[in-house]
Amino acid sequence: MPATEPDTSGFIGVFDSGIGGLSVLQALRAEMPQERFVYWADSGYAAYGERSDAFVIERCHFITQQLLAQGHVKAIVVACNTATAVAIEDLRASYPHLPFIGVEPALKPALAQTQTLRVGVMGTHGTLRSLRFEKLRQSVLADASPKTCEFVVQACKGLALAIEQQTEKTLSDTQALEDLCAHHVQSMGHFGLAPGQIDTLVLGCTHYVFVQDVLRKLVGPAVNILSTGEAVAKQTQRLISEFSLTKPNTNAQGDVQLWTTGSLQALQAAATRWLNVSAEHCHLVTPTGSNDVPIGGSD
Ligand code: DGL
Repeated sequence: MPATEPDTSGFIGVFDSGIGGLSVLQALRAEMPQERFVYWADSGYAAYGERSDAFVIERCHFITQQLLAQGHVKAIVVACNTATAVAIEDLRASYPHLPFIGVEPALKPALAQTQTLRVGVMGTHGTLRSLRFEKLRQSVLADASPKTCEFVVQACKGLALAIEQQTEKTLSDTQALEDLCAHHVQSMGHFGLAPGQIDTLVLGCTHYVFVQDVLRKLVGPAVNILSTGEAVAKQTQRLISEFSLTKPNTNAQGDVQLWTTGSLQALQAAATRWLNVSAEHCHLVTPTGSNDVPIGGSD
């Protein structure tokens, strides 16, 4: 028995280069409705996928420090494939007592499901060129051997940023975004269930979940589209309960506060549309770069 009771107060920090990680936050709130979440959308510095590794690592450290400055952080969910690929090892080494949960493209589930043995993977340039992605690809193939599979990867230049920018526009004004999706999907080849076609599509960027309807129209109804939000939420839940940090379930919905370094209007629109969270939960990070950003709040 521990000498003192574990402290179940505090919050789970979640961050992404922008609004993409809201797709993960959605799943986290569904899995752990009683928990308190603080979300950081680093939209002012997006898109991470087209930045240098050093830049992304520096932002991840800055955001982690900002979250830690607000009190008891139970765990941090890096709700960004690019930041996970580039920075999670560094974060874990720098904060050995803080659990970090990352996201990575769902190659393993895809390989378990594909019949044609051709899987499309959409991600950012940063994710797909990373050593971590290459290691994941090789280990998934090694585990499945002698079954094999071709991963058709597509670095979707501009797509995460276009999704960010779309949030502030009207919902009917989507042509440019649809054209960009079509360009990336068509670059991967033919989708369908026939031999040689791609029958499974992995969304290797948390932003892409928000254009899933557009992608569905492009690839057709038979293709499996895989994202990782639910699996990450379950893993986070397991981890905090392992550390006895889970809040008792009182049926009360836990608080959520969202912060952005970009456009407050865009965050409010996204939070309302996708999380059903009202505008007063959304805040702008003052661009001081110092540690006095008043995020979080008390328990
Ligand atoms: N949402 C992010 C990801 O999962 C990052 C997109 C970007 O900023 O380029 O990779």
